[in-house]
Amino acid sequence: MIQNKNIVLIGFMGCGKTSVGMKLSYRLRMPVMDTDKLIEQREHRSIKEIFRESGEHYFREVETRLLGELKDKSYRSIYSVGGGTPVKEGNGALLKKLGTVVYLRIRPENVYQRLKNDTTRPLLQCEDPLERIRSLMNERKNAYEGCADFVIDVDHLSVDNIVDEIERKLSAKGRK
Ligand code: S3P
Repeated sequence: MIQNKNIVLIGFMGCGKTSVGMKLSYRLRMPVMDTDKLIEQREHRSIKEIFRESGEHYFREVETRLLGELKDKSYRSIYSVGGGTPVKEGNGALLKKLGTVVYLRIRPENVYQRLKNDTTRPLLQCEDPLERIRSLMNERKNAYEGCADFVIDVDHLSVDNIVDEIERKLSAKGRK
């Protein structure tokens, strides 16, 4: 299936954007790019270091600047973006302009199970990560749903199943 638009994967930390992006890239023969990785390369430091040394506000500014630049690239790609990207004012519109937005929706308890030993997500390094996940997800729900072309509930799906579902929805959209 040939895609004439970029595909943008959004969703909370731990929902599987990176692994789904990689598999989808293989299936659709499209390059995949992870905006967090691009930011790390550009800044020559990890996300964790950026948060620690320059703060979340700075990170969000870099993230928005990058989104604005990506839409000018001429080759079709899959973009996997950070969990907080859709939240900042104006970013939802930038994501929609960038391509077909696919929201990988996950339950807070699953995020917690997947990330309870992770140390690379600064926002979850706190006393009660499950409570933080719940409240962040609640705050972000409308932003995610507001910019999504498709929503996929990933809790009970393997990466292969998620990719099948994305392909199915993309081809249904293409036929409309
Ligand atoms: C964040 C998600 C992270 C990364 C940063 C902030 C968030 O990306 O951008 O730690 O605000 O949800 P992943 O969703 O890829 O973990």
